Amino acid sequence: MPNLTIVGAQWGDEGKGKAVDYLAGSADLVARFQGGPNAGHTVRVDRNTFTFHQIPSAILYPKTTCIVGCGCVVDPYVFEHELAVLRKKKVPLGQRLVVDRRAHMILPYHRQLDQLRDDQSAKQRIGTTGRGIGPAYADKVNRTGIRAGDLLSEEAFNDKLKHNLAAANFLLMDRYKAEPIPFKATAHDYWQATRRIAKMVGDGSRTIEDALRRGKRVLFEGAQGMHLDIDLGTYPYVTSSSTWAGGVAPGTGISPVWLEEVVGIAKAYTTRVGLGPFPTEMNEADATHLRELGNEYGATTGRPRRCGWFDAPVVRASVRHNRLQALIITKLDVLDSLDEVKVCHAYRLRGREVGDFDPFHAVEYEPVYETMPGWRQKTSGCRTFSGLPVRARRYLARLEDVCDCPIALVSVGSERSQTIPFKSNKLRWLRAP
Ligand code: IMP
Repeated sequence: MPNLTIVGAQWGDEGKGKAVDYLAGSADLVARFQGGPNAGHTVRVDRNTFTFHQIPSAILYPKTTCIVGCGCVVDPYVFEHELAVLRKKKVPLGQRLVVDRRAHMILPYHRQLDQLRDDQSAKQRIGTTGRGIGPAYADKVNRTGIRAGDLLSEEAFNDKLKHNLAAANFLLMDRYKAEPIPFKATAHDYWQATRRIAKMVGDGSRTIEDALRRGKRVLFEGAQGMHLDIDLGTYPYVTSSSTWAGGVAPGTGISPVWLEEVVGIAKAYTTRVGLGPFPTEMNEADATHLRELGNEYGATTGRPRRCGWFDAPVVRASVRHNRLQALIITKLDVLDSLDEVKVCHAYRLRGREVGDFDPFHAVEYEPVYETMPGWRQKTSGCRTFSGLPVRARRYLARLEDVCDCPIALVSVGSERSQTIPFKSNKLRWLRAP
C-alpha cells in the first residue's frame, strides 16, 4: 500500500485542509508531524465548516486513526476546544485519536512570551501567530520542555512547571516588565484542562509503524509550508519546526525509509502572512482585490494575507527539496474573473536572470513575469479537466512546465466535490484502494 506525505509548497495557507480532507478519505491513519495551533486547516463538509488547528482534520472520517506526532507542539486549551466541537457534532472518537507522549506541550507562558517578543514595536519582529510556538520549541531544544507524557504524573508535572515558571517569570518581569504567572493557579488549571488529553497520550510512533507494517494506507500531513521551514525557509521569517517532507521521520518517529509518495500543495497564486521576503507580492490595490476574491484572511489569526502572483521558482525549490511527485493546485476559481494572470518564472538579480529561489537573496529579487490571458469564466462548477476553460487549462499546463512537476488535482472551490483529477496524475495513492 502506498503512503503519502503532503506538504505546503509555498508559505502556508495553500489550502492543505481541503486537499488533506480530499485525500484522507481513503486513509486508514493520518499523522501530523510538526507545528501546533499556528496552523488552521479549514474543511467544508455537507455545508458545515470546520477549522482545525491542532487535531488532524481527518478525524471527521469515522474510521480513520489520527496521530498528533512527536514533532508537534500541543496547546491543550485549543485541543480541548476542538474536542468539544467534535462532541457537539457527534463525531465518534473511540481510541482513534493518539497524542504521541513525546510531543511537547505549550504552556501559558509560551504564548505570553511569544506575544511580548513579537510585539508590533519589537525590532526583530517576525509576525508570528502569537500561539507560543517559538518559545515551546525553544524549550524543547533547550531540553526543559514539558511533554505530553508528563501529563500522566501530577507530581512530575508540577516539578517541571515550577522550574520552568521560575525562568519564564524572570523573563516576564525583568525583560518585559510584565506580571509574573502564578504557579498554583496555573498548575491547577492546566492539570484540569489536560485530563481528557492525558487519556489519549500514547506511543504514536509505534501506532504508525504498526499500521505501515500491516500495509495500511498512511497519510502524513504537514502544516505551514516549505518556505516557513526552520532550516530551509526564509529564516528568520519562518516557523520553528521542519515543515518539509524531511520532517516526517523525526516528527513521527518512523524511519524515512518508509516514505513513498510526496505531494506539494500550491495555490494558483501566492500568499504569505507575517513578515519576510515575498518577491511576487502585488501592489496594495491588486492585493486587496485578490484578497477579497480569495477571502485571504488567516484561519488562525484573521490577519489579512499578503497576496501575489504565482512564483514558480518558489514552488520549484519545493519540488526539488521534497522531490515532489505531484502538485495539487488550489483556488484556481479565485482567478476566474481576472483579465490576465501572471506567472513569475525567474528573477532578476543585480542585472542577471536567475531561476533558482535562494532565501539568502530573496529580498533582492525582481520577478520576471510572463502574462497570460485570463479565462473569465466560472470554474467552480467544473468537475473534469476537459470541462475547464481552454485558457485555464493553458495556465495549468504552464504551471506544470515551469514548476517541473505534474499536477495531480486541481481545486475549484471549498467543497470536497469541487476537485478535479488532472490528466497527468500518476499518484498511486489516488488509485482506488
Ligand atoms: P509562528 O509559527 O507562530 O511562530 O509564526 C512564524 C511565521 O510563520 C509567521 O510569519 C507566521 O505568520 C507564519 N505561520 C505560522 N503558521 C502558519 C500557517 O499555518 N499558515 C501561514 N503562515 C503561518
